[in-house]
Amino acid sequence: MAGTSPAMTPEKWINMGTRSREDLPNSEYQRWEKRFSVPDYVFGTAPNAFLQSQADMLPEAGSALAVADGEGRNGVWLAERGLDVLSTDWSPTALGKAQALAKRRGVALRTVEVDVVQWQWPAAQFDVVVAIFIQFLTPDERRHVFAAMRNALKPGGLLLIEGYRPEQLNYRTGGPSLVENLYTRALLEAEFGGLSELRIAEHDSMTSEGTGHVGMAALIDLVGRK
Ligand SMILES: C[S@@+](CC[C@H](N)C(=O)[O-])C[C@H]1O[C@@H](n2cnc3c(N)ncnc32)[C@H](O)[C@@H]1O
Repeated sequence: MAGTSPAMTPEKWINMGTRSREDLPNSEYQRWEKRFSVPDYVFGTAPNAFLQSQADMLPEAGSALAVADGEGRNGVWLAERGLDVLSTDWSPTALGKAQALAKRRGVALRTVEVDVVQWQWPAAQFDVVVAIFIQFLTPDERRHVFAAMRNALKPGGLLLIEGYRPEQLNYRTGGPSLVENLYTRALLEAEFGGLSELRIAEHDSMTSEGTGHVGMAALIDLVGRK
């Protein structure tokens, strides 16, 4: 395990492109900053249950990209598995908490402050790409970000995604209120049908992730290899 070095200083790589923070849609940036400006970890410090369930799929070493990783619960867990992790988010408050969590756990975590819609995504660089609950994206933004995620994987690299299905709008236990931001099997098959070893699972499960995601939820998981 490459898990003994101290947490690294956060990289500052703000790349908002044409979107300035003040002009971001519905002040989404400010909303997330405010949400994370509490001492507690909003989505907890334990990894997402789906991600944890895929531990056997992970390589023993290599690089991982955690997309919109927030306060780092998933990125830190991947680093604890021995991976060299780049954790992205646009919230400096969340990334600061991710660094603090990495330090507490005694692992190194690289963090980069980016708007994933505007980011110049690296190509063919990661053995693993993880995107857990990134449903802030509009359909157009999602097409762009999903393509960038596929492109960021090395050949043979592993893609892990979890999100909510439209049925989540009945549960109201987390996630966006816009149905077009949610995932269906057909949508994921259309986007990721080209991956090998593709597995998509729809399920209703109890969630307990900090105060942010609590209760029964309509989920959909994807595992695939480039
Ligand atoms: C529901 S949280 C999930 C966080 C993390 N993946 C987890 O499972 O704990 C969504 C995250 O997306 C981030 N986010 C929203 N819009 C973003 C954008 N345009 N670029 C980068 N991060 C964004 C938020 O700051 C927040 O951390």
